[in-house]
Amino acid sequence: MEKTFLMVKPDGVQRNLVGEIVARFEKKGFQLAGAKLMNIPTELAEEHYGEHKERPFFGELVDFITSGPVFAMVWQGENVIATARNMMGATNPKDSAPGSIRGEFGLTVGKNVIHGSDSPESAEREIGLFFKPEELVQYNKLM
Ligand code: CMP
Repeated sequence: MEKTFLMVKPDGVQRNLVGEIVARFEKKGFQLAGAKLMNIPTELAEEHYGEHKERPFFGELVDFITSGPVFAMVWQGENVIATARNMMGATNPKDSAPGSIRGEFGLTVGKNVIHGSDSPESAEREIGLFFKPEELVQYNKLM
């Protein structure tokens, strides 16, 4: 079953959007396989966002993602990686479709409420950074 890593960023947690965001993925039909409310250590933030290391906003990005608790999640289901990206909307909220999470709740590219893996490779990498295998649940075959 395809899995992706999603994370409500500090702005989303602070604005009490965790329940709203979880509800959207539940109602879509995806299964929550793991979740934790956590503060991200600086080293983990730098590793998670390693591909942006040379970008001018890297320091700002790491400072922001470590500024308060995030809600880290693993979701699973058919085509969950691409579908979750659609449900999140474009990275920059000025371009996010109305009705998408960032389209509804985001205002700036830095504080854009949610992060989601952009490919199977990054999903596997990011899940491995944030979760131990035993922290993910197994569902029975009823669904
Ligand atoms: P995310 O999907 O978490 O992946 C990388 C993040 O970098 C992205 O969401 C944005 O929040 C952030 N980002 C992209 N461009 C900028 C920018 N110009 N200034 C600050 N943050 C940015």
